[in-house]
Amino acid sequence: MKHLIAGITVAMAAFCFQLTSAQADEAADAVIANLQKSHSGELNANVRYLAFAVKADEEGYKSVAALFRAAADSEAIHAQKFAETITKLGAVPKSEMEKPTVKSTRENLEAALQGETAEKDTLYPGFAKQADGAKQAMAAMFFRSAMAAETEHAKFYKQALDKMDVWKAAGKEFAVCQVCGYTVMGAPPLKCVVCASPREKFKVIK
Ligand SMILES: [Fe+2]
Ligand SMILES: [Fe+2]
Repeated sequence: MKHLIAGITVAMAAFCFQLTSAQADEAADAVIANLQKSHSGELNANVRYLAFAVKADEEGYKSVAALFRAAADSEAIHAQKFAETITKLGAVPKSEMEKPTVKSTRENLEAALQGETAEKDTLYPGFAKQADGAKQAMAAMFFRSAMAAETEHAKFYKQALDKMDVWKAAGKEFAVCQVCGYTVMGAPPLKCVVCASPREKFKVIK
């Protein structure tokens, strides 16, 4: 009897372990799926913002064009970080490219603001939390650093929308951290507030 109970206990423990490890596999797969979605999203955002920059230049919104170029640069860095993380986790980075829909600069700014807001408020916080649960610290860190940059992008798009006349003139400059994609308006800071890289790691875009 004693042996039978011990046997059942061992079998139950093994069953529970299997469930736990299956759940862990599922969580790890979900992290990779979220990284793939992010990688594709950032690559598409890069192409879309570059097209929006051309349109803004055509319409004479010089500083808006600079903002779109800076955000495009930042999104390319996020895409690269997501691709590296996907590779480190043993998968192959994928992307589904879409042809960007380019409208007037006002409409493009509105679309950009909407996209960034969804990313910073919903998409990346959810992905980061899921990665925390799956104990994927690197993925969680990159979701959060993208979130920090998207928060700044959303802020600048809102400022541009509120004062489009002011943003017609050339003169606004942006600096993009080439390590994490964090974006500031004006001169580069002494140190990146997200990844602590020094000023030399920032690219000035105007
Ligand atoms: Fe962004
Ligand atoms: Fe940075």
